[in-house]
Amino acid sequence: MNLLDGKKIANQIKDEIAVQVAEMKAHGEKVPHLAAVLVGNDGASLTYVGSKVRSCKRIGFESTLVHLPEETSEEALLQKVAELNANDAIDGYIVQLPLPKHINEEKILMAVHPDKDVDGFHPTNFGKMALDMETFIPATPFGIMELLRRYDIETEGKHTVVIGRSHIVGRPISILMSQKGKAANATVTLTHSRTKNLEELTQKADIIVSALGVPDFLKADMVKEGVVIIDVGITRVPDATKEKGYYITGDVDFDKVAPKASHITPVPGGVGPMTIAMLLKNTLLARERRQN
Ligand code: GUN
Repeated sequence: MNLLDGKKIANQIKDEIAVQVAEMKAHGEKVPHLAAVLVGNDGASLTYVGSKVRSCKRIGFESTLVHLPEETSEEALLQKVAELNANDAIDGYIVQLPLPKHINEEKILMAVHPDKDVDGFHPTNFGKMALDMETFIPATPFGIMELLRRYDIETEGKHTVVIGRSHIVGRPISILMSQKGKAANATVTLTHSRTKNLEELTQKADIIVSALGVPDFLKADMVKEGVVIIDVGITRVPDATKEKGYYITGDVDFDKVAPKASHITPVPGGVGPMTIAMLLKNTLLARERRQN
């Protein structure tokens, strides 16, 4: 079993970006500036956004955190989005999901200017991605692709089973892995809550990408020997014995599945850090596009 060390690869990518930022500075150019909008105080979202801002500092990006109260109206958030679209200092920004229930997520994501949409969630960018056009690729699937590429995982002609059809992970990764190119050219099956024979499919899969959010969902008897496992699940399980009052776990029953796998991502330290690295990469791309 080989661990796909997302933390290590993410640090390599951040180091590479830091070199580019240092060069930008040396040439007197503006450095990339990422903004993140967080509405409310969801614990996991606070952690992710905090981590994004810290990563920006580390690699020499400028960053802005826009933290709005839970009761912020949809109108006020749309106003903030319009401000960020118009603010020339900001190269790219994200609106952290999930948003409070009284806000229509689709309406907000539609309002983000596609040129600043470093999440790649706007229909213009998502459509370009689906059509193999150059664009911002959503950070989590982008991170999975980069991890597969850097570990030279063979995907061509391989049967990949994706579990979960979310707009952020399952749907885009199923598109990306079926496209032409490195870490792609796979035969992809996208499974979801209405899939009838999931076990039959996972047992035959060469590669499994699980993006479900159910701890220990994928068991050893559901996979074949030599499978490649990408675990995108990040669930906080309450545990009074832990300092934070919880521990983080993925979708995969890691201890039992790992011995059967040829490659597997740990949780934490697998896909999570890659997501942040690729968001930074998209922000660098946004800056470069604006520069040219
Ligand atoms: N919530 C969970 N993942 C993401 C992500 O990649 N971007 C944003 N904006 N929100 C998220």
